Formats: sequence, structure tokens, C-alpha cells
Amino acid sequence: MSKIDVVIMAAGKGTRMQSSMPKVLHRLGGRALLQHVIVTAQLIGARQTVVITGHGAEQVESTLSHQTHLQTVRQIPQLGTGHAMQQALPVLEDDGVTLVLSGDVPLIQPDSLQALLHLCDSKYLALLTLKTPSPSGYGRILRGSAGEVVAIVEEKDATDAQRQIEEIYSGIMAVPTRLLRPWLARLNNRNAQGELYLTDVVGFATADGCEVRAHCITQAWQVEGVNTPVQLAALERTFQLLQAQTLMRQGVRLADPARLDVRGDLVCDTDVEIDVNCVFEGRVSLGEGVRIGPNCVIINAEIGAGTQVLGFTYINGEDKKVRIGHGARIGPFARLRPGADLGDEVHIGNFVEVKNSTLAKGAKANHLAYLGDLTVGERVNYGAGVISANYDGANKHHTTIGPDVHIGSNSVLVSPLTVGAGGTIGAGSVITKDTAPDALTVARGKQLSIPGWQRPVKKSK
Ligand code: UD1
Ligand code: MG
Repeated sequence: MSKIDVVIMAAGKGTRMQSSMPKVLHRLGGRALLQHVIVTAQLIGARQTVVITGHGAEQVESTLSHQTHLQTVRQIPQLGTGHAMQQALPVLEDDGVTLVLSGDVPLIQPDSLQALLHLCDSKYLALLTLKTPSPSGYGRILRGSAGEVVAIVEEKDATDAQRQIEEIYSGIMAVPTRLLRPWLARLNNRNAQGELYLTDVVGFATADGCEVRAHCITQAWQVEGVNTPVQLAALERTFQLLQAQTLMRQGVRLADPARLDVRGDLVCDTDVEIDVNCVFEGRVSLGEGVRIGPNCVIINAEIGAGTQVLGFTYINGEDKKVRIGHGARIGPFARLRPGADLGDEVHIGNFVEVKNSTLAKGAKANHLAYLGDLTVGERVNYGAGVISANYDGANKHHTTIGPDVHIGSNSVLVSPLTVGAGGTIGAGSVITKDTAPDALTVARGKQLSIPGWQRPVKKSK
């Protein structure tokens, strides 16, 4: 089979999104619409991928600049889909098959494209079509007496009878480039919209005796485009349900597949359970037997086997992945920030915030604490309300806490510090100097009682 050159049309304005952002940059499942299509092009093994930009070209191109396998071609002004393809021709080789995709049709599946390419067979014009009871707005497929495809007529150019046709053109076609080139040269704009229609190549193929083949699918979501925020939200739900089904097929137990949002890559080992209303972003991996409670947000994190994340926990590894070992217990209502690196069996409880800190095996901070810029030894126990004062107003400082330290409730550890192994900090202490191992350190006002002390009384006027 010939090499495949993918052309992704992404120059349109997307007026109905009513947004200053180019349409193809709106996100579905955490990724730009256009990015979904680019990934699909890679999956089918495209020799090259060409993105046609126009409206918001600079913005679109800047999001693509790190993807060196892509080429962009500008279409200014935008005179129609045929005109868009004319701009791409100079970078396409005649020995290939051109596969036309739309930057705003994100859920087209690789197997549908493979079937289309198979049908094209390096010699025919192959169209991806859809049978739908609501064809309104789309180009209709006209077939001859033997059922052969003879043309596509745009809705605005169609007769009333043609508008009744329920087979529509998806906007996706596969065509040998050597045939496409002369056809594109023959386009004209004598139509209702005064545009150069790519769809007119179908009529040219028929006239030239080139067979036009159609791969007709029934899953509308595969070819649904995004034109409005309502359509974007509807397609988002479809996408999320597809991902949920994939996870369940892998054995993941979801409390409710309709209440899961994965905006990135979620990789799960066996026996993972996820309760309702959880959001996963970026790259998240969950080890064997991990259980995630309801209403958790987990961004860029790696969670070890047997760990439980209880409800309402917010984990954000943003630019520095959060790591949690085996058999840990996090939450409810915990917050893990970038650089939190928690060992096996660590417990982080309610209203505890951890940032840029390494906690060794078995360390526990169960209530109301802030742990920032720390190295915490094994089995350290944090009392309720212990705070790292790690910021002096200009710089952040680091503190090291040795193994088996117990820190009394409501203490403040003023960094930089070293708290010696096995030491105990009395509750309510403000620790500003290093402490010796195995010592009890108390740094607070001594308790004083004045017997029979009289409270002040209100003066009479
Ligand atoms: C097009 C098809 C129609 C099909 C429908 C499927 C034509 C003439 N019609 O219609 O048969 O049913 O798609 O969704 O092709 N674009 C450019 N430059 C342009 C115009 C469009 O890059 O000058 C891009 C758009 O950004 C979009 C795609 O091409 O990604 C389709 O354009 P759109 O305006 O949505 O075409 P339709 O009129 O919907
Ligand atoms: Mg459209």
C-alpha cells in the first residue's frame, strides 16, 4: 500500500464557539481537539502530517512547534475546503495517498481510517460517510442507479429531494495524491457559498471514470464536529464514557462510569477501584489494589499498590510528580502538592498539606498540618497543627527530621533545622534551633498559676 500523508484542516474560524481562542485549540479530555487528530494520524502510521492553519494561525502553530514531525501550511484567506487542500499540495508527494481529516472532528477512530484506506487501495477515491436520521447541515451523498457514489451536494446547494438523503459526507476522505492534484486544479466557486468545495472532486472522479467508494459507518460520534460549546460538552461526555469503558474492560471497577473524568493518561494495575466524581489529569498511574474515594482530583501522580486515597483529596503533581508508595493512606481532605514523595505506609490525614517533601516509610501526619520543604525520617509522628515555617519572606529553607521523632501538636518548625533522631518536641513549641537526638525539646512559655486571681469587673457609672 502507498504511504499515507495526512492533511488536517484547521483554518476555519469557529464563529459559533464565541471564543477568542481558535476552535481547534479548545479542549476535549484535557487535550486540544487538534491534538486528538494528530495522535490518530500517528497511530495509523502517517508518513507526514500537514496541518492547515488560518484563523488564529500563530496561536495554533505555537502549540505545535514542539512537534517536529508536523508541517504547517497557512491558508489566508479561507476560501473553502478545496482552497485549503490547494495550499497543502506543494508539500504532498504524488506517490502517496492523501488522507483528509478535520481538526474539529476529534473522535475519529484509527480502525475506521484503516478501513477507508483499505477501500482507497491506492487507486480509488474513498469517502467516509455516515447514515444518520439527522443529516441537516452536512453534504449529502448522491448515488447512481447501481448504488455507486456520483457526487456530494452541499446542504445549501441541495434540492428539497436531495435534503431527504440520510447518508452524509463526514469531511474525511482518502485519495491518491496523483489524482487529487489535477482535480483540485479544476475547482471553481460557482455554488451557493461562493467557495472552493473539496467535495466537488467526487464529481470529477466520476467524470474521469475513477471509482468512488464509500465506507459508511453508523457511530455518529466518530465524525461529529465541534461547532458550539454545547457540541463540545456533548462530545466530552462521549469521550469520557469511551475511556471509562476501556478502563472497565481492563478490570478497573468504577462506581459509576458516567461520573469519571480522565483528562490525560490513566494507567491502572489490577483490582483498582474508583469511586464517583474523580478527575484525573496528566499522567496518573495506580498500582494494584489502589482505592480512590469519591470526589478526588489527581494530577500527575504515581500511586503504589494497596494505597487508599480517601474522599475529597486533591493531589497535584503539576510540574514535579507526586509519588506515593505502597499501603499508604491519604485523606480524606488531604492536599498533596508538587514534589510530595511519600514512602510506603505513610499516613496523611484531613487538612494536611504536603509540598516538596520526602516522607520515609511509616511517617504519619494525620490532622491539620503543613509539611513544606522537608525530609522526614521513618515512623515520624506529626501531632495535629504542626506547621513548617519554611519561608522567610525571601527564600525557602529546608528541614530534616530524623527517624522516630514525635512532634507535639501545634508546634512550629522554623527552617532551616535538623531535628535529631528519636527526639520529642513538646506541644506548642516554636523550634528555631537544631535539636539533639533522643532529647525532649520544649520551647514555649512555662505554665504559671496564680491562686485566687480575680477577674476584672465592670465599673459602675
Ligand atoms: C464540510 C463538507 C461537507 C461535510 C462537512 C462535514 C465541503 C465543501 N463540505 O462542510 O460536505 O458534510 O464538512 O463536517 O467540504 N476549513 C479550512 N479552510 C476553509 C474552510 C474550512 O481549513 O477555507 C476547515 C475547517 O476548519 C474545518 C473543515 O475544514 O476543520 C470543514 O470546514 P467546515 O466549514 O466545517 O465545512 P462544512 O461547511 O461543515
Ligand atoms: Mg463544519
